Amino acid sequence: MSFSLPIETDRLTLRRYLATDYDDLLRLQSSPDVTRFLLYGPKTPEQVKESLAGRLTDVPMDTDGQALTVAVILRETGQHVGEVTLFAQNVEQRIGEIGFVFHPDFHGRGFAAEASIELLRLGFEELGMHRIIGRLDARNSGSANLLRRLGLRQEAHFVKNEFLKGEWTDELVFAMLAEEWDKRS
Ligand SMILES: CC(C)(COP(=O)(O)OP(=O)(O)OC[C@H]1O[C@@H](n2cnc3c(N)ncnc32)[C@H](O)[C@@H]1OP(=O)(O)O)[C@@H](O)C(=O)NCCC(=O)NCCS
Repeated sequence: MSFSLPIETDRLTLRRYLATDYDDLLRLQSSPDVTRFLLYGPKTPEQVKESLAGRLTDVPMDTDGQALTVAVILRETGQHVGEVTLFAQNVEQRIGEIGFVFHPDFHGRGFAAEASIELLRLGFEELGMHRIIGRLDARNSGSANLLRRLGLRQEAHFVKNEFLKGEWTDELVFAMLAEEWDKRS
């Protein structure tokens, strides 16, 4: 499968990670505010190194479970504002999953939406995906609002289905089909 990076939007550049992005990734992944509703807690420097190593690895998106995570850079200042991920959940059935993590300093400016729409485009138009989902902790209203704004439909609300960080949590599942993407564009 092929896809083209970097991607330029009005305000942002979406590009592969570089080894020099370590400090920015550490700032993002070690923040308790950022990781509150994520599967992982604040990461240690050692864990961030592992995480960056994964992001530097070539990702052909041809095997179940692969994840393409791109750094999102505010072009005007060169700052790393966050990252967006497209997971190849099931290659044979062409099902993907989208994820987004932005630094709190850059929330509320539409950057996550501007970057995520490009990853949906990449998934549907370049990788030929049939369905892209988003999964989140039901308390993560910022994430639910973003998925709705992107045009995904809520398909499920699982009640206390995951034991995370010491408690049972609810999970929401959102989805968009390729045919819905075509109509939206
Ligand atoms: C989820 C997350 C990415 C959402 O970030 P966000 O900045 O709220 O998302 P958007 O890019 O859609 O921005 C929307 C906000 O920007 C505002 N905005 C300002 N300028 C804008 C513009 N030019 N275009 C669009 N929206 C704009 C919107 O009004 C909206 O504000 P509101 O939240 O007060 O209604 C962010 O909360 C985050 O990174 N959280 C931590 C990690 C996490 O939980 N990730 C999700 C895991 S499932």
